[in-house]
Amino acid sequence: MSADLAFTIGGVRTEVRFVERIEPLDPASVAVFDTVTRRLFGGGFPAERSVVLPAGERSKRWRSVEAILGRAAALGLGRDGRLLGVGGGVVCDVTGLAASLFMRGCDLALSPTTLLAMVDASLGGKTGIDFRGGKNLVGSFHPASLVLVCPAALATLPDREFHSGLAEAIKTAVIGDPALLDLLEARREAVLARDPGLLAEVVERCLRVKGEICEADPREEGRRMLLNLGHTFGHALESWTGFRGWTHGEAVAWGMGRAVALGLALGATEPGFARRLAALLAAYGFRLEAPAGLRELGPALRLDKKRRAGTLQFVVPRGAGDVAVVSAADGDVAGALGAREMG
Ligand SMILES: NC(=O)c1ccc[n+]([C@@H]2O[C@H](COP(=O)([O-])OP(=O)(O)OC[C@H]3O[C@@H](n4cnc5c(N)ncnc54)[C@H](O)[C@@H]3O)[C@@H](O)[C@H]2O)c1
Repeated sequence: MSADLAFTIGGVRTEVRFVERIEPLDPASVAVFDTVTRRLFGGGFPAERSVVLPAGERSKRWRSVEAILGRAAALGLGRDGRLLGVGGGVVCDVTGLAASLFMRGCDLALSPTTLLAMVDASLGGKTGIDFRGGKNLVGSFHPASLVLVCPAALATLPDREFHSGLAEAIKTAVIGDPALLDLLEARREAVLARDPGLLAEVVERCLRVKGEICEADPREEGRRMLLNLGHTFGHALESWTGFRGWTHGEAVAWGMGRAVALGLALGATEPGFARRLAALLAAYGFRLEAPAGLRELGPALRLDKKRRAGTLQFVVPRGAGDVAVVSAADGDVAGALGAREMG
């Protein structure tokens, strides 16, 4: 099986292969699932070489890492052994952290089963768990050597999770692939109907954009920050709402809307593009309106780790496939939070 895509991120080669089904890679690896992905995709995997975590964000904790390490140790997995994560971003992040720790680092393969994990979490090397209330507070950098993308796996994904991944796909198109933006506009119904061939193209295009950015800047010292489009506002909304009521993707889509409002106010975003992006996000059903009491978001934004030297850094779109990092004063940010129009 040859690689469909390959990237070298932080000195580690990651091969991406598109596959028809999810199956064991080799008899010696240890597979990690959550309860849902085990039921859906775990049929061919031996139970004794599998770790099954509870589904959902609550599994992004140390206990999950310990369970994986414990099973790897009990099975006598060697340094040349491999951990294979089969699941969404949660399984990818936790399996990645365990792989970075086992015997000071063992091989990692990921088979992402949510759209978000296919277009984002499976590539780039970031691993992590939530710790003492801090999202992704503990983590490491450990790219997978192999990413196995099975677009057919998306057929069972709940609508809301699928939608959440679409926000990241739109984000990626805005950052670096104008043709993908055209495709998401023109073929919206087929995308929403989850046409597997079309989804494979969407995922491949997203992985190309992310992979190339990560190759250029593996440790997020510069260009990789562009991938945070929509995330500074989005994370603040998620923490302000207590991670309830909005999925990550919905918050990112909303955050992209706020980034456009900020870009317009600062003269960075082309008004025609602002209208186009607002129309696309609305057509996919994303909420762009500000929740009541939103101005209280200010403190959550000020805590954002992207704050540098007293001003907040934001990624704003300029046009299709063209984004910039801007510094914004508190007044501009407050204006963008309250803005009604996007273009
Ligand atoms: N490392 C990175 O670069 C990176 C990037 C983006 C997000 N993340 C992380 O990813 C996590 C979110 O990932 P997520 O949205 O995939 O959530 P998730 O892993 O919790 O999966 C969402 C739900 O979908 C279920 N599921 C998974 N695949 C399914 C399928 N094919 N059919 C039916 N149900 C399925 C899961 O069991 C779960 O209940 C967050 O913790 C975030 O921090 C990491």
